[in-house]
Amino acid sequence: MALLATLPASLAVLGAAGPAAAQRRIVGGTASSTSDHPWMVAVASRQQFGSSRSGQFCGGVLVSATKVVTAAHCFYDERTGHRADRPGLQAVIGRDDLRDRDGREVTVRNVWIDPGYDFTRNLRDVAVLTLAEPQAGRPVIGMVAQGETEPYAAGTEARVYGWGDTRGNGSYSPTLRSVEVPVVSDEVCSRAYPAGGDSPYDARVMVCAGAEQGGRDACQGDSGGPLVVAGRLVGLVSWGTGCAEATHPGVYTRLAAVADDVRSAL
Ligand code: ARG
Repeated sequence: MALLATLPASLAVLGAAGPAAAQRRIVGGTASSTSDHPWMVAVASRQQFGSSRSGQFCGGVLVSATKVVTAAHCFYDERTGHRADRPGLQAVIGRDDLRDRDGREVTVRNVWIDPGYDFTRNLRDVAVLTLAEPQAGRPVIGMVAQGETEPYAAGTEARVYGWGDTRGNGSYSPTLRSVEVPVVSDEVCSRAYPAGGDSPYDARVMVCAGAEQGGRDACQGDSGGPLVVAGRLVGLVSWGTGCAEATHPGVYTRLAAVADDVRSAL
């Protein structure tokens, strides 16, 4: 999550002067907790990513006692675009600080990738993980229905959660963070990521969110994590140019476009 320290260049040049510090408190996100957001999970492989942060490499969200929704690209090699296996894949549930042992690590016994997922164009970036042990009694998050449009109106208050990069420079957060990012209109987002560019915005299956002035965003390591509107899952962290740039909002998988597919995998 691009939180405290990530500022758009225009604010960063204020440097150590008073105004920058004041801005930081306004543009930045805050610490969050799995006690308040019990559906937030870390998708992890200690074998592949080491144990210092419980092996976390993506975010995910519990939608039923045995199913976690996350991003498809978490299971692809960024460089080759080929399917990557994630040995010892786990969902870490109920752990705010990835350096701790709180909560539990649950084995993932199946990974479903949306059949329409397109690595190159980032289309239908959604996956469903099946847990080996049901999390009976743990609160889950509700999802928007297929075709819903209202939660995607420009300016809608949304919040994104994750353990990702806080500065866009590889500073992965050990603790869960969240930040409010208003929904950005399709028009503005298409201008930021035009058709014909290397990664065009596709409003049918994506939605953008971010502050107009930049400074608030998801970032590397937040992928697959939830974009939440009024307590419901509306998006998944998918991609973006840089992090928290005023000119480039974060791009999310539009849940309402893939909800039927996801339900078929539950
Ligand atoms: N692809 C990134 C990940 O794997 C997420 C990038 C989101 N970027 C953004 N600026 N919102 O973690």
